[in-house]
Amino acid sequence: MSQMIVVGLQWGDEGKGKIVDLLSPAFDVVARFQGGHNAGHTVRFGERHLTLHLLPSGIVRPQVSCVLGNGMVIAPDALREEIEGLERQGIEVGERLFVSARAHVILPTHVLLDRAREEARGEARIGTTLRGIGPAYEMKAGRCGVRIADLDSDDLIELLRAQHQRIAPELANLGAEPPPKPSALLAACRQQAEWLAPWTCDVAVLLDRWQGEGKRILFEGAQGALLDLDFGTYPYVTSSATTAGGVAVGAGVPPRRIDGVLGVVKAYATRVGGGPFPTELDDGDDGIGEHLRRRGNERGTTTGRPRRCGWFDAVAARYARLLSGVDLLALTKLDVLDELDEIRVCVAYRAGGREIQELPAAAAELARLEPVYETLPGWRQDTRGALQLADLPAAARSYVVFLEQAVGAPVALISSGPRREETILLDHPELKRLLGDRYAAVRAHRDGP
Ligand code: IMP
Repeated sequence: MSQMIVVGLQWGDEGKGKIVDLLSPAFDVVARFQGGHNAGHTVRFGERHLTLHLLPSGIVRPQVSCVLGNGMVIAPDALREEIEGLERQGIEVGERLFVSARAHVILPTHVLLDRAREEARGEARIGTTLRGIGPAYEMKAGRCGVRIADLDSDDLIELLRAQHQRIAPELANLGAEPPPKPSALLAACRQQAEWLAPWTCDVAVLLDRWQGEGKRILFEGAQGALLDLDFGTYPYVTSSATTAGGVAVGAGVPPRRIDGVLGVVKAYATRVGGGPFPTELDDGDDGIGEHLRRRGNERGTTTGRPRRCGWFDAVAARYARLLSGVDLLALTKLDVLDELDEIRVCVAYRAGGREIQELPAAAAELARLEPVYETLPGWRQDTRGALQLADLPAAARSYVVFLEQAVGAPVALISSGPRREETILLDHPELKRLLGDRYAAVRAHRDGP
């Protein structure tokens, strides 16, 4: 039996989609447990290039069942668009999808509020994905959210009215367009309920049954630890629990059932939107930041915004490792560093002559800190598509070992390019334990057509 979690250890965009796709032959089920269509997970194999926002990356494999957990916020129309898009590309979702009746619904009013607030914040904007994620979670915590189960209930109009009463005055204050009337939303909600009905279920009960039957389940995190509502760089965060603990509350899984956690880290750091980023390289058009952005194709998958780029922050990654109890690391985009003469890693922060080894809670304090760097030699050699550790130059191998020690967990996978086949799968005993007799299937999947 194996239940494994994959989470991002930075500010999202670590390449989780590729890693989940690669590991999916070892699992019968892939489940999401938080977030919504703010995520953008990319899967590339052969000539195919798929972007997933709500559906787990396991959907690409016809044998895998896919779950949207109660901890998610779901925009039914976005889900429909995604499913139809996949079906046009020959990927049938059919009976493989299971959606929690307890997941909350993102309403058009949430999107209006997200936009109006961001505009009003001006320079201090969070830089959200404008998908209505924050307001939907806010209504959930405020106990007037609409859940999938409510879409066809007799109480729906009352719930819509309660939300309207909270949201309409704020939109008016912000000078935004008025929200649609509750009665105008009702018909669309009813249609969504009917369309979602075949997939709607109690995910906690389903996962419990599947676990009892020995099915292997992979939990796919979205965003990253530094965007976590509690532990991230608050308030510049998303509104959900992005660490491994999110699985317990976001899918109804007892923590003791989890066998292992894989943390995904990119070989450097990126961030989309506002908020502190101590290792950011704001060094102009000819600088290393721009080089990483171009070579790493660092643009938001969901919003198309250019990502801010910088050096690897080992202080932040160490904290993220600790929060999720990470057993193994997957290191992505190592090849993006191929042309650099030297590479820096932030190993501490400095404030007023004092060295700090921990991430401060206040965003303003983090923004004031100076990174303390270790400088490592670059390798100036093409590593794209490397399939084994021995294919990497010595300096690249040293960089991997340095990161393992700085973060405090061993690397089991190294991504050497965006495609599924461009991956080094290490012979790590812990990875073998977690994947069990399906380790060979994962290897074959990497090498397959
Ligand atoms: P929200 O999740 O749309 O509310 O956005 C809050 C913050 O999280 C913003 O800084 C977004 O750019 C960031 N964010 C949300 N989803 C992702 C993601 O999938 N990758 C990277 N950043 C994200």
